[in-house]
Order: sequence, then structure tokens, then C-alpha cells
Amino acid sequence: MRHTPLMLSLAAALAVAGCARDQAPANTAGTAAASTAAAPAATQAAAVNDEHSYAQPDKVRTTDLALDLALDFAKKTLSGTATYTLEWLDPNATQLVLDTRDLTISKIEGQGADGTWAPLEFALAGADKVLGSKLTIETPARPKQVRIAYTTSPNASGLQWLEPSMTAGKKQPFMFSQSQQIHARSWVPLQDTPMVRFTYGAHVTSPKDAMVLMSADNDPKAARDGDYTFKMPQKIPSYLLAIAAGDLTFQPITNIAGVWAEPSMVKGAADEFADTGKMIETTEKLYGPYRWDRYDILVLPPSFPYGGMENPRLTFATPTVITGDKSLVALIAHELAHSWSGNLVTFSTSKDAWLNEGVTSYVENRIVESLYGKERADMENVIERNELKNEFTDENKPLQQLAVKAGTLKDPDDNLSSTVYTKGAWFLQFLEQRFGRENFDAFLRGYFDHFAFQSISTQQFADYAKANLLDKYPGKVTQAEFDAWLYEPSVPATAPQLASPRFDAVDAARKAWLEDGTLPAADATGKWTTQEWVHFIEGMPQTLNTKQMADLDAAYKFTGTPNGEIAQRWYPLAVRSGYTQANEAIAAFLQKIGRRKLIMPTYSELVKTPEGLKLAEDTFAKAKPGYHPITTGSVQGVIDAAKAAPKQ
Ligand code: BES
Ligand code: ZN
Repeated sequence: MRHTPLMLSLAAALAVAGCARDQAPANTAGTAAASTAAAPAATQAAAVNDEHSYAQPDKVRTTDLALDLALDFAKKTLSGTATYTLEWLDPNATQLVLDTRDLTISKIEGQGADGTWAPLEFALAGADKVLGSKLTIETPARPKQVRIAYTTSPNASGLQWLEPSMTAGKKQPFMFSQSQQIHARSWVPLQDTPMVRFTYGAHVTSPKDAMVLMSADNDPKAARDGDYTFKMPQKIPSYLLAIAAGDLTFQPITNIAGVWAEPSMVKGAADEFADTGKMIETTEKLYGPYRWDRYDILVLPPSFPYGGMENPRLTFATPTVITGDKSLVALIAHELAHSWSGNLVTFSTSKDAWLNEGVTSYVENRIVESLYGKERADMENVIERNELKNEFTDENKPLQQLAVKAGTLKDPDDNLSSTVYTKGAWFLQFLEQRFGRENFDAFLRGYFDHFAFQSISTQQFADYAKANLLDKYPGKVTQAEFDAWLYEPSVPATAPQLASPRFDAVDAARKAWLEDGTLPAADATGKWTTQEWVHFIEGMPQTLNTKQMADLDAAYKFTGTPNGEIAQRWYPLAVRSGYTQANEAIAAFLQKIGRRKLIMPTYSELVKTPEGLKLAEDTFAKAKPGYHPITTGSVQGVIDAAKAAPKQ
């Protein structure tokens, strides 16, 4: 077996690095000495400051948001009003400060005690590249309600407006939002921090043939009439505010779950996601009732910049996971899991991202294990952990702590995914192993109930775990072992290791081929799943020669594969190996897909040589009109960095 020794030695090396404790623990006092003493009372309070928002949630909080918006495909704008119901916490507060980005604000009014609306003075500050523009509204009377009339920019970072040519049907335009992490402020002025939770309602007008959906009570039988009303009665953080519009039809999966997609996609999507009902049942059995009423999935065009987004009641999903064999439906398990970890119990700042993504990745893996077996769940884990090994470097140590220190994360979109997803899940797998599955399941279920509909910090998680795990079952995990995961870089030596016999077979097949060119027997590879193909490619040397690449292509048709997980690994290998035969397919792939995770590895590899950089730039120029602003930013960043780097 190839990867286990490697991983063990990595774990050991990482552990040594971790022991150096070259940084003070996270921004909370007391954690360093926490091995014996209880955390000081002050650290148990919920956080009140989010460095990625101008809002002042210690002074005033939005409890409800009412939107009245007109959706205009021709102008690429949303315009109308946002009305906030406010809870004034500080009796001396005289201002309401909101987050905005690229918004045009025309009028702001406050409601007097007699119910009449009167204009309020306001100032919109210059834009910070990451945070946007601070909007300061003078509210000396601390009104119960404030109303803002505004229009979005066609370039809003949280919206993408697609021409009909970029849709499957090619006839109607399409638009969608992506608010996480701090892009809601580009389509609604608001307190854009997950610390603030609010209910919302919306009235949206659109062209008659567009179906409009939101992260709210979508009606599968809604008539398309250009006039839509939504209610979200549960309190959500701003990053879960979502909207989409286009030629969308609905197909049920169960009586509470279904798929929204363009007409030509909806059947395939419903088949691919047919196990959604079972996933909901499994998660409910483990962690308590699903509390969001319906669970529908919206399949977006391929320019969607993420794999999935857990918008409540309406997961947004990339079409790139529809492969026909359900091999990538862990994505649905993941987004569904957020209905507990993330949407129900929410991180209070981006520094605590692991509380959302790590806990969710753990739950996702449990769902996969329950539906598709431990072998598949383990394979998915091993792939992630191997990626972590590549992503963790000496340079990004500060981002390797689960609890990232204040000031470390400049742009909240720049979290290290191996930390928040993989190390986060690994931490819970460690706790599960030490405390036993039964005890740990009960703990996690209690955690979701205890913090339901709240936004919490890592410290609150740690305090809760101390009381309900560490102190409850003494002698299983020390406070120092627990804290090492949260406040130190790398992966602690306590990390449980995994073996995967199915990956051992893949390793043996790869080794044999590398030694003498013998391809594995077809009756073996015929049964390989996406995970095995991914592992086969990932274990290849840095480069192969042209004959080797051509032989693999002849046998397995990797070049041009419709499977994004395979393409994501094969194309960088092709670029490194100088296998220019793949260039045309690479360009086509980069133009068709906008999902960052799938295309960034290839761009990053291309920019390393002058010829590659040229292909990257030419392709980007063609692809850009179809990319989401988030993807455009990432690709531009990689190209700019390569050009700025000193030539060798
Ligand atoms: N919430 C995330 C997407 C996200 C994270 C958007 C941070 C913006 C900032 C979502 O749940 C997610 O994790 N998506 C993954 C898929 C998953 C299977 C790991 C993705 O898009 O790759
Ligand atoms: Zn997630």
C-alpha cells in the first residue's frame, strides 16, 4: 500500500511542526492555559465583532428583512426597497451601519412612532476592495423600521446574469445569487455578518416567463406570472439569502424534496439525486428532525462558481455532478448536512468557518457511509486527506488552525479548504474514535439542539464540548489534545489514520503500469468508481512522457472526460507533462465550466510556463464573459501573480 506509510510519515512530520507552537492560540485569552482551568467566563459569551463587516451588532440588530424588488434582465439589476425591523440593543446608539458593495442608494427613510416615514441622512463611504462600502445612517430616534431604496450594479459580486446562450435551453436569460461569504451586501444593503440572524419576506417582479425562486418557501406548483412572494419564517444569517430566476421547472423526488432545473436537465437531475429522501431520513435519525420544511435542489448552469451552496430549503448545485452514476452525490449529502451544521448552528464569523464546513464534511461522510458503505466513505476521506497534504505548506501555517486568529484572514473567501473541510472533519472523526460512536452521536445531536438557530464561535463549541464530552467521559481526550486541533497548525499526531483496500488495489495497478506499461485488467477497472479513477491519476508521478499519456488516453479517454473530478486532475498532469494533445480539450473545459474548484488547478498549472500562460490568457479572454465574478477574480489573480513573478 502506497499512501499509508506516506500519510503516516506526513502525520508525524506535521505533528512535529505542530508541537513547535510558534503562534499564540486564537484570539481568545485563556486557551493556552486551558488544559486545566475552565475557560474564563468572558470567553463563553457570543462574539460581538466580525472583522469582515462594518455592522455593529452590539448596538442594533435586524430581526426581519422585507424586500420589494424588480428583477430586470436587460439592465442586469435588482431594484426596489429593503425594509428592516430593528432591535436597538444600545439605548445610546444614534446610527445604523450597514454593509454594501456597488449599490446605488436613492433614499433612506425611518418610521416614526406614529407610523409615518421620514427621510434619514446617510453617508456612503468609499469602497474597500474586500469589504465594500460602509453605509452610515443617522438614526437619532432609533426607529423600529428603516427603509432603503436602492439598485444593484450589473457587476454585483454576488449575482451572475447569464445570456440565454449560457443556459441549457439557450432561449431565456438566467440569473442567480451567491451570497456566501460576504456578497449578500452586493445585492441587499444589510448587516452582512453571520452573527446577525433575521427572518425575511420578499416580493419580486420579473418577466412573466421567468420562474423566480428564493431560499424560502418556494411553491413547486407556483404559476409563472412574473409576480412572486416569499417568506422565510426561520431566522437565517445574511449569507443564506438567495435568489435565482430563469426557465425553471420542478420535478419531485419525495413529497418534501425535489429538483428545480431547466426543462432539459430536470429528469436527469432527479434521477441522479434520487437518494435525497434516504439522505434526509438518515440524517434525521442521527441528528434530529429536519427543521426547514422542504428540501429542494436547484441545478444551475455550469458557470455556477461552486459545487453546491446550502441555501435553506433550496440547495444550489453545479450540473457537473450529474454524471449518470450517482458517484458525486456526496455533494448533496454535504449541502443537506448544512441544514444542521451551518444553517441551524452557524459560525459567528468567517474565522470559525470550520464549524460550518468541517462539521458538515463529517456529517456528509456519515451520510455517505450509511447510504453507500464504509468503503466509499473511506475512499472519499483518503482523497481529501491526500489533498490536505499538498495544500498545507510552511507558508500557510496561520491558516491551518481550525480557529483562525483575528487579522489572519484578509478576504473571507480565502480560507484554506483543507483546514476548514478536511482537518475540521478529521477533528470530529478523532473525537468519534476516542469517545465511541454512540457517545459522540449523542453529543453532536445535543449540540445541534442546544445551539439551534444561533450563531456561535469556536470558543462556544469548545466550552460545550468540554462540559458534554471531555468532562463527561474523563480520561478519553485531554484538553491539550483537544486544543491542539483548534489552535495549532498542521494535523496533530492524534489524528486517526485510514486504510482503503480498494485504493491499495489502485496503487498496485498504477505501480505495475508505471513499471512495464501493463494496463490493469479491464474487468477490474470496469468496476472502478470516480473515486478510484481520481486516486489512480493523483498517485501518478509529477510528469509522464507523451507515450504514457497517449496510452492512458487511448485506454480511458481521460482527455475530454465529462467527469469534472477526473478532468480536474488529468488536465494539470497533461500540462505538467507537456502533453499538448490535450490543449484543445483543456480550453473547451475551461470555457464551459465556471466551478472554481474544478478549473483553478489547471489554470494554476498553465501559468507556470510562457506557452501555458498564453493558453491560459487566451482561454480566459474567451471564457470571461461567461464566468461568475467570483471565478473571474480567482483566475485573474492567478494570471496576475504569474506575470508579476520574477522570470527565471
Ligand atoms: N458553503 C459552501 C460553499 C462556500 C463556502 C461558498 C465558502 C463560499 C464560501 C458549500 O457548502 C460547499 O462546501 N461546497 C463545496 C462542495 C462540497 C461537496 C465540499 C464546493 O462548492 O466545492
Ligand atoms: Zn459546505
